[in-house]
Parts: sequence; C-alpha cells; structure tokens
Amino acid sequence: MYKLIIEGGKSLKGEVKISGAKNSALPIMAATLLTDAPCVIRNVPKLRDTQTMVKLLQSLGKTVEARNNVIKIFSNGPLKDTAGYDLVSTMRGSFCVLGPLVAKLRRAKVSLPGGCVIGVRPVDLHLKGLKALNVKIEIENGYVFAKAKNLRGAQIYLGGVFGSSVLATANIMMAAVMAQGKTIIESAACEPEIEDLANFLIKMGAKIKGQGTPRITITGVKKLHGADHRIIPDRIEAGTFILLAVATRSDIIIKGACSSHLLALIDTLQGAGVKFNCTDDVIRVKTKRSIAPVSITTYPYPGFPTDLQAQFMALMALTPGISVVTDKVYPDRFIHIAELNRMGANIRREGINGIIQGVKRIYGAPVMASDLRASAALVIAGLAAKGKTEIHRIYHLERGYENLEKKLTLLGAKITRKRE
Ligand code: EPZ
Repeated sequence: MYKLIIEGGKSLKGEVKISGAKNSALPIMAATLLTDAPCVIRNVPKLRDTQTMVKLLQSLGKTVEARNNVIKIFSNGPLKDTAGYDLVSTMRGSFCVLGPLVAKLRRAKVSLPGGCVIGVRPVDLHLKGLKALNVKIEIENGYVFAKAKNLRGAQIYLGGVFGSSVLATANIMMAAVMAQGKTIIESAACEPEIEDLANFLIKMGAKIKGQGTPRITITGVKKLHGADHRIIPDRIEAGTFILLAVATRSDIIIKGACSSHLLALIDTLQGAGVKFNCTDDVIRVKTKRSIAPVSITTYPYPGFPTDLQAQFMALMALTPGISVVTDKVYPDRFIHIAELNRMGANIRREGINGIIQGVKRIYGAPVMASDLRASAALVIAGLAAKGKTEIHRIYHLERGYENLEKKLTLLGAKITRKRE
C-alpha cells in the first residue's frame, strides 16, 4: 500500500495532457464480446479499472494485448458465460459485460456488483431493460442468471428514481444491437461516454440513432464485425484539473480535453469569476484573484456531473462565503466532508446537501482516501492547503487517474509517493 505526500500552498504552472476516458473505455472493452473478430481500442488509460476489465475479458475467453494505451482484443475459442464475484466486486463497471454476453451467447451468469461508499448502486434498470428484450432473469446466491431463446426489440423506458442510468443504457444498447427488430430506449443516458460506445458499436456494424439524446433507437442486425476506435478524452479528469487550477490560483493549460463536454462546470465557474480561454481541445484556466462562492446541484449529463461534486466541494471549502452542494444522483456521496473538515474546512451535511462555510485557509493533515473522486478532492485540498498532507490508501486514485503524480509534478507540485 502507498501514500501520497503533498507539500501544499504553491501555485502551479504549465501544460497537462488529458488521458482517455475511463468510463468510455470500460463499456467499449465489454462491447468487444459481441464479435469473434479482432478489435483495436486506442487511447485507453492505463488504470486499475481498465486492467481489471482486461482480466475479466481474459477470464471470458478473449486474448488481450495491451501496450502503450492501445488494447488489441482477439477471440481464442468460444466465450465463457460467467463473470465471477472476485472481479465484479472490485469494479462495478464489470457489470456491463452482462448485455453483450446475453446478446452473443443468449445466456450469462454475472455477479451482482456490491454497493460502494457513494451509494447502494442498484441494478434494477439493467434487469428491467433485459426483461423487456425477452431475457429471462433469475437472481440466486448473489448472481444474475440471464437466459434468452431469442432477443426481441422493444420500447423501454429506462428512467429511474435518480434519472437516467449510464451503465444500464450501455448494457441495454449492447444487448439490443443483435436483437430481432427495433429497440427504442427512452430516458437513455446522454453522457459523452454513451455516445462514444454507440459510435464504436456502429463501427462494428450496429444500427443506432439518437446516441447522446434521451431517445436511442437501435435496429438489430445478425452479426457484428471488428472495429478500430479511439476513446474520447476523460472529461472528469479534465474537470478535476480545472478545479485544481482554480483552487491553487494556477495558470494551467489543459490539452486534449473536449471543452464542449464540460459546459456545466465551466459555466458554473465563470459565474464565480473564473476566466477561461477555450478552444475545442484546449482549456486554459488562469485564476489570480479570489472567486465568489457558488452553489451546485448534480444531475445526469448535461447537468453538473456527480463525479466532479467532491472536487468542487474542495474548491468551495476554500472560497469564503456560504455555498451549497446538492447531489441528486448519489444522495450519500459525502464521505469526503469529514476528511476536508480535518484539514480545517467548515462543511456540514444536511441530507443530500453539503453546506459549506468557506474559509481563507486550510491546513495539511493525514487523510484517508475512500472512493475515486473523494480522493481527487483530497489531492486538490492538499495542493491548496498550507503545510504537508498525507493521503493514505491511494489505490482508490489509481483506479481512475493515469500518472497523476507525474502530471502534477510537471506542473510544479511538490508531491511524492511513499510506501505505507
Ligand atoms: C456511471 O456509473 C459511472 N461509472 C460513475 O462514475 C458515475 O458516477 C455514474 O455513471 C453517474 O454519472 C462508469 O461509467 C463505470 P448510474 P453507473 O447507473 O452507470 C441509480 C467514477 O467515479 N440507479 O448512471 O453505475 C444509481 O443508484 C464512477 O468514475 C438505479 O437506481 O451509474 C444512481 O443514483 C463513480 N438503478 C443513479 O441511478 C439502476 O439500475 C445514476 O447511476 C442503475 C442506477
């Protein structure tokens, strides 16, 4: 186990290159189960989570070659139909092999993903969508058993209590691409990662329209072939660097990001007085003076992303005045409050709200990483704090941020990794 040591209080300067999107790479890697033909996926970030997906594909019978952010996936004989608890429990994203396995094999046995610190994480929408496609579903001993004589297209409403579901949309889209007839997904997730998955499936020969909108129409085809695809940039990594730049009063050029995927964050920060200089794939953030406190509520895309909520809270903790952070996607996603308060922040939780009394300064302290984005919030706080911060259990960070220490060191941060 390792920890990160950060000497905070310094402004940063320079350029950072954004990696490929983790949450696009995972479902696209799962989609290669839909064909026996070779697939090439480029710009795949080297992360714990993408390594876990490689292992899962290998356990299902795929041969995978991963080198310099390019992953080549080949078949070596018939697919296996079981995704075991050992891998699925370490990464919920594994659950999105269910749809492609059912489409390819007409059967699948996939472990139910556990909950995690950000919430219960149910899968009722995934199962509702599969049943609508004529899949028989049984749950036994913590596994989903799915079976279908044939998959028939259907009109499926996938809106849940918390709005649309990203991975349920991904699972149903991948199950429907070889179903008989037409499938319409209403209240589909509009995230750029869903659009990227649909574009990959279309390259494989799928017939999909409406990706990126709440209504996705899929016309089933008999067979899919291989494809060569480049993953879109990671908007959450880019958003994390924007928030980090503002929190440390830095002048950072973020390269390879899609500014159009970050309009909610950019608009919110402009309202707080942050100046941006954006082109299609370069975002320059230059913040010298203090900003005003602003409140946010998270929603499914294109709303303010829940995956940037913790990082935004770290910034507001340092912005004198009152601000409120409301998470409507994951109402329990506030584990980072306790750790930020240990650094001198003044935040209290009231239900789905974090009420922030911004302070002039926070102070370095030993803190505990808990989930991927809460850990990113602690890195931002540590870089902005006065003194030394030790972040323990940084494997959470390594799940979703490629070469983070290296990228921060190149920007002038004093950050080192030490064995626990
Ligand atoms: C994806 O998770 C992302 N993960 C999450 O990012 C992200 O926070 C989330 O979407 C929301 O944007 C990947 O893409 C691998 P959801 P997903 O289904 O698809 C409820 C990160 O940090 N819901 O869109 O699992 C659910 O409880 C991770 O990279 C149901 O009620 O999330 C939540 O409240 C964390 N029933 C809301 O919907 C269901 O069947 C949105 O969840 C499914 C979800």
